[in-house]
Amino acid sequence: MKLYVAFLASLILLQVVFFKGYDCKAVQFIFGDSLSDVGNNNFLSKSLAKANLPWYGIDMDSGLPNGRFSNGRTVADIVGDKMGLPRPPAFMDQSLTEDVILDSGVNYASGGGGILNETGSLFIQRICFYKQIELFQGTQELIRAKLGDTAAEKFFQDAVYVVALGSNDFINNYLMPIIYNDASTYNDKTFVQYLMRTFRDQLTLLHGLGARKVMVFGLGPMGCIPLQRVLSSSGECQDRTNKLAQSFNQQAGKLVADLSNSLPNATYHFGDAYDVVNEVISNPSKNGFSNADSPCCSFGKIRPALTCIPVSSLCKDRSKYVFWDEYHPSDAANELIANELLKKLPFLTQASSPAMPPSSSR
Ligand SMILES: *[C@@H]1O[C@H](CO)[C@@H](O)[C@H](O)[C@H]1NC(C)=O
Ligand SMILES: *[C@@H]1O[C@H](CO)[C@@H](O)[C@H](O)[C@H]1NC(C)=O
Repeated sequence: MKLYVAFLASLILLQVVFFKGYDCKAVQFIFGDSLSDVGNNNFLSKSLAKANLPWYGIDMDSGLPNGRFSNGRTVADIVGDKMGLPRPPAFMDQSLTEDVILDSGVNYASGGGGILNETGSLFIQRICFYKQIELFQGTQELIRAKLGDTAAEKFFQDAVYVVALGSNDFINNYLMPIIYNDASTYNDKTFVQYLMRTFRDQLTLLHGLGARKVMVFGLGPMGCIPLQRVLSSSGECQDRTNKLAQSFNQQAGKLVADLSNSLPNATYHFGDAYDVVNEVISNPSKNGFSNADSPCCSFGKIRPALTCIPVSSLCKDRSKYVFWDEYHPSDAANELIANELLKKLPFLTQASSPAMPPSSSR
């Protein structure tokens, strides 16, 4: 009997030790562009890519702008919610402390940012992927100082990493020959190869820093964003831009599979929602949408390239528009994209029992 009690007590003690502190909690670290930004650019005083005015954020929480380039949630928000992971705050958020990082992770995504350092210079300030990785190294130092090396190493190896970049390298770099040199240095084939070389180095660098579970999101049919459609008088999707996205997806998929096989203990997955979004754009009404070619938030015929602005008018039913502004999908489209990614990223489904937090949108 005494032995049994002692056994029980030690079992409880073991559990307390095992589950104590941060050991059992997985968080995410998010690297990305405006599709995943949750407010970093609002803190870049000179950045021209900001979602800090109405009507951004209108379908989330208070309805006030929160830095997301959408009316509601980002794809990464929805994917994380469905995995039961907390939503990480923006790196630049002043309230970010070690405790917040240990509870929720960090989001480094920055509107206008790309895989390449030179991408998005048009926006004056943005945080490119290499710089985001540098910021992550700073975060690691803070956590090591707080937890010690061993616990910090475990914390970072247990975390989930989201990498969602690439569209700006085309839309705000390669496809803007007047502003960027890359268009004259490369052709469609060699530019994607250059992106892949850089991306390989970056994803390998993340592994060296302890990332083990990495989800890489591919690109959608970016030739169909409203901003690309206005380039032709017919308003059709830009075929070349879409082909570049497909080429990126195909090669990034191979790259990620290769890294997953070759890097020790790595579980890297790639997923894209190109085909699903393309299908919705071809047949909006069959898929529950009424409009797949113009932004819900729009300033009439004068189409500002970057943002929807306070004097813009909004579409009647925001849940029926694929695009929120000239660049970015709506909350409804993001939900569709996230559901498709969840199907393609197998380790997500076994990561944790999805304790669905209440949706903060709509
Ligand atoms: C890109 O930027 C990072 C710093 O953010 C720097 O360390 C790196 O050398 C740059 N790479 C190139 C190719 O310019
Ligand atoms: C891979 O995992 C094994 C078992 O957990 C561990 O001993 C080893 O150090 C890990 N290797 C790396 C590079 O993380």
